[in-house]
Amino acid sequence: MYTTYNPLIMIETSAIRIEKTTQSRINELDENNIPFGRLYSDHMFLADYKDGQWQDLRIVPYQNISLSPANSALHYGITIFEGLKAYRNKDGEVVVFRPEANAKRLNISAERMCIPAVPEGLFMEALNELLKIDASWVPSAPGTALYVRPFVFGMDEYIGIRPSENFRFMIITGPVGSYYTKPVRVKIETKFSRAFEGGTGFAKAGGNYAASLYPARLAQKMGFDQLIWTDGKTHQYIEESGTMNVMFMIDDVLITAPTSGTILKGITRDSVLTIAREWGVKVEERPVAVAEVVAAAKEGRLKEAFGVGTAATIAPIATIGYEDEVYDLPAADDSFFSRKILKQLSGIRSGEIADKHGWIYKI
Ligand code: COI
Repeated sequence: MYTTYNPLIMIETSAIRIEKTTQSRINELDENNIPFGRLYSDHMFLADYKDGQWQDLRIVPYQNISLSPANSALHYGITIFEGLKAYRNKDGEVVVFRPEANAKRLNISAERMCIPAVPEGLFMEALNELLKIDASWVPSAPGTALYVRPFVFGMDEYIGIRPSENFRFMIITGPVGSYYTKPVRVKIETKFSRAFEGGTGFAKAGGNYAASLYPARLAQKMGFDQLIWTDGKTHQYIEESGTMNVMFMIDDVLITAPTSGTILKGITRDSVLTIAREWGVKVEERPVAVAEVVAAAKEGRLKEAFGVGTAATIAPIATIGYEDEVYDLPAADDSFFSRKILKQLSGIRSGEIADKHGWIYKI
């Protein structure tokens, strides 16, 4: 059993009960054709929070789970998640990119949603054991990875409104290819809001994504792939996109909105900014006015726009729609910052470029 008062607590491997599948589905994996989020690896991790403690840590064959119809997550969205990726490096080893950062961010989301912290030691041990068992699911083709989805949700059988008292922490994984298979067309949203000061925008809470679907669907009907959200109060400042943080190269300055109560503290975002600064690129983390981006696009000074995220990796933006206008951006080539940074991050993950930041965690 694990108490949550010390998020750095380490746990014994033997604390996880392991039941292996007798029928692997690995032959369903075609490394050359992996859609995002459709195929799941053979095993999953589960732990239950009861009586104030995380307990019953187990890895079992991937399968459906059973929930009460009165489950508190189903009714009130008491659910948070993380996204990280495992890669196969040039020596065939399985490595994970910055998992400790995900463990920490999960607990930032947890606090906001009245969910008990998952001890970082528990998170890391569960991840490590699960990836050891399902190592054969980590693909090696360029642009592929094993997507890891930790999540925590309320397990109370109670439809009154109150913080849940029982929870489940799970990790599922699945091989993935690109989230976006081509440069994305985004629309700057000026009517609907994703987040507002004092809300849950910074958390990876399920409800944030549920609320974004209707405006995104309207934009998709207009031929866009995604939205770029603006601040909920004035709609004059860029925040983030539906699945990623966004960055702009205006003249030779890399500009992105500062993370705040309304913007997710992206781990890819942080990695990109860290490397950009080391490369001597001028970086500005500051409020980014829609008017500034639109003016730069009109004047040909918006050299690049791209999304950054675990699932999206580095996703070049092809087109930005704003009000009734559409601005097309130049197609990325190898001289573009977005291409160079993608290459750098891929090199760090594959082990071809030295991991001087200690971002790589070996399984
Ligand atoms: C990720 O990038 O890992 C995310 O969680 C975004 C998700 C909407 C696919």
